[in-house]
Amino acid sequence: MYILGIESSCDETAVALIEREEQDRVIAEQIKSQVPLHAQYGGVVPEIASRNHYEVIDHLTREVLKEAGLTIDDIRVLALTLGPGLMGSLLVGLSFAKGLAFANKIPLVAVDHVLAHIESAFIDNPGIRYPLVALVVSGGHTTIFYQKSKFKTEVIAKTRDDAIGEVLDKVAKYYGLGYPGGPILDKRYKDGDPNRYSFTFPKMSDGSDDFSFSGYKTAAIRHPAGKNANTNDQAFKDFISSFLNSIMDYVLTKTLSAVEHTKPKSLIVAGGVSRNSLLREKFTKKFTNSSVNLYLSSPRYCTDNASMVAWLGYEKYRSFPNINYFDNYLNSYSRASFRDRGPKYR
Ligand code: KG4
Ligand code: ZN
Repeated sequence: MYILGIESSCDETAVALIEREEQDRVIAEQIKSQVPLHAQYGGVVPEIASRNHYEVIDHLTREVLKEAGLTIDDIRVLALTLGPGLMGSLLVGLSFAKGLAFANKIPLVAVDHVLAHIESAFIDNPGIRYPLVALVVSGGHTTIFYQKSKFKTEVIAKTRDDAIGEVLDKVAKYYGLGYPGGPILDKRYKDGDPNRYSFTFPKMSDGSDDFSFSGYKTAAIRHPAGKNANTNDQAFKDFISSFLNSIMDYVLTKTLSAVEHTKPKSLIVAGGVSRNSLLREKFTKKFTNSSVNLYLSSPRYCTDNASMVAWLGYEKYRSFPNINYFDNYLNSYSRASFRDRGPKYR
């Protein structure tokens, strides 16, 4: 069956067409990145984002159908990111999807964007087994989840302040390196000595397992090797490499602790920052020969896309055939309904 996915939660408008059951594959996807529109501001401007979604969403949908050689009549399920995200941006996707679903009598399945990031790992890895731990590292989220099964989700740890991607973007912006900072810093990592400077791992005073990244941000912005530096100085390059080395070690250490406590069969790492080459290298090294199977989301599905939305939409449609997908979203599957494990895995 064919499923159309729509994603508009932040600064990418994406529409994807997937096939499930007969074959499991992504047939077509169109992603319109708004990076050039926001670059001059060094961050996403919500009003610009929603206006751009509004301008392109209809065209992208037509393009995807054309690319797949299908029409809207062939679509059995429409999957949509309902949240979390920027409200104006989400509303564009929601209004468009509701209209399309209503006019063509297609069931509408609303999915959670962060859970869709976890699902992205399944697109190229159908054999992932539960229970699993999933680390989602992106521009808006840094969360470790435990899933007993696909729709039984608990939060093990989440960031108390900034998300990791947000910190990478802000540090790069502060030093005038460009936007978005994550991929730019990724490329610069190899230019410096990752062991020259040290950064302390944040610790929660209440003993919680949550993340905190604001200390990293402050340390990077106030770093002596950054002050008045030329970004081509070796000391500056070493500082950037050391900073990345520490922040990725922090994320790895927290994930290892979650894995040790919960003993899952699989570990998924997903979200925009999971595209980072150092992070991928560190996780791969640590989990080679481990009893826990590591699944890194494929690079093209790490950052925001609609294939992951369609993939999860299908799973939800298949698992809960009798619910009213849209109305029940907020009651049954929103992030607010995740059970929080609280500090120390109690
Ligand atoms: O998942 P995503 O597209 O959007 C959110 O849901 O937030 O993630 C975007 C984030 C940005 O902060 C961006 O800088 C970061 O992912 N990112 C990277 C890399 N590619 C994207 N961070 C580090 N290394 C990368 N290669
Ligand atoms: Zn995302």
